[in-house]
Amino acid sequence: METSAHWNAVYRAKSEDEVSWFQPSPERSLALIAAADTTDSLIDIGGGASRLVDRLLQQGYGDLTVLDVSDAALERSKARLGAAADRVTWIVSDITRWKPERTWRLWHDRAVFHFLTETAAQDAYIAALEHATDPGATIIIATFALDGPEKCSGLPVQRYSAETLAARLGPNFHLTGHAAEKHRTPWGSEQSFQYAVLRRG
Ligand SMILES: C[S@@+](CC[C@H](N)C(=O)[O-])C[C@H]1O[C@@H](n2cnc3c(N)ncnc32)[C@H](O)[C@@H]1O
Repeated sequence: METSAHWNAVYRAKSEDEVSWFQPSPERSLALIAAADTTDSLIDIGGGASRLVDRLLQQGYGDLTVLDVSDAALERSKARLGAAADRVTWIVSDITRWKPERTWRLWHDRAVFHFLTETAAQDAYIAALEHATDPGATIIIATFALDGPEKCSGLPVQRYSAETLAARLGPNFHLTGHAAEKHRTPWGSEQSFQYAVLRRG
């Protein structure tokens, strides 16, 4: 199944808190974003229906972009935000096919890169990351950790430590921090995530 068809079907079939990755408030991401020394511009890759954008708007972020392969996911966020949705740039695209037309100071991805299990798709993601950021940019990528689940939403994932993720991204990206998180799904099970913070050299 096409990536967009898979994710649109998921978002159309399930409500917000029927998906394993749901967070009422993305506290870990917010803390890592706050620790980055920039509030200039942020793109949330595979932001889906996450409430991260709501919180960043509340905090006064003025240049926010959310990209996702699923238009159904982005429509859900827009409906939740109401008029405030007009203050966000929304991009429907597959990250592995996206050609960025500008750069951002902060790149955030929770649980998207880990779905790319093919080398060519990972390379395409890294090329997009390189085109969409300048030297000095902060990159926050959360994936399932080495002891995390092997699948998400029925799809296989590639699991990482902060170090193996940094090695995969290559020499342009320097690991500056990391954090482990036990995510609790809406039905109470635990999933082991790792968050890596990198600076573009
Ligand atoms: C596990 S969900 C995480 C959503 C959100 N980041 C969060 O933390 O709530 C993965 C998201 O990535 C999106 N996605 C999956 N593959 C993608 C791709 N190749 N390009 C862009 N978005 C993708 C899905 O539509 C979905 O919204």
